[in-house]
Amino acid sequence: MAPGETVLDLGSGAGFDCFLAAQEVSPDGDVIGVDMTPEMVSKARENVAKNDADNVEFRLGEISHLPVADTTVDVVISNCVVNLAPEKQLVFDDAYRVLRPGGRVAISDVVQTAPFPDDVKMDPDSLTGCVAGASTVVNLEAMLDSAGFEAIEIAPKDESTEFISDWDADRDLGDYLVSATIEARKSPQNP
Ligand SMILES: C[S@@+](CC[C@H](N)C(=O)[O-])C[C@H]1O[C@@H](n2cnc3c(N)ncnc32)[C@H](O)[C@@H]1O
Repeated sequence: MAPGETVLDLGSGAGFDCFLAAQEVSPDGDVIGVDMTPEMVSKARENVAKNDADNVEFRLGEISHLPVADTTVDVVISNCVVNLAPEKQLVFDDAYRVLRPGGRVAISDVVQTAPFPDDVKMDPDSLTGCVAGASTVVNLEAMLDSAGFEAIEIAPKDESTEFISDWDADRDLGDYLVSATIEARKSPQNP
């Protein structure tokens, strides 16, 4: 991120990543956080005052239908949220819509490295907890490509399997998941 850029955080929670991004884009840049949970948006708005961050705002909404105007954002960030969205293609399509030509996504998320056993797939905690909704690298590449992105790079962080292994006492989720950075760009020629 560079000074002057506009950053959008998908699933901003209490706003931690937004406040970090705000420091990087200051003094002229700004940050928008979108979250679907009214309680998280309220909490994040309270944190605006605490962080004295007048270039950060939080909006209530779904990341698959962003409350953000077309071609107004330079960088879309997100930390461990896209896997939670049931309609991931819509998430990438809408990220593409809001990006300016030449804009980029820089997302951190978990990706699936091996098929989940049935007990993981059916476990409600897995569905709501960054596990069962994770896509494979191949599926993510296909969705980003379909949305129109280029320069797609998905880089698994092999060392992350160690902390993922601690997520579940009954099974080693590191056998099925890895944390990854997901980067892609909207062509500078594309409106
Ligand atoms: C695991 S937390 C991550 C929060 C923040 N990104 C962080 O790293 O601290 C997931 C957040 O995403 C939000 N969320 C999940 N699915 C969403 C969706 N489809 N649209 C908008 N927000 C969503 C939740 O309300 C929650 O605040």
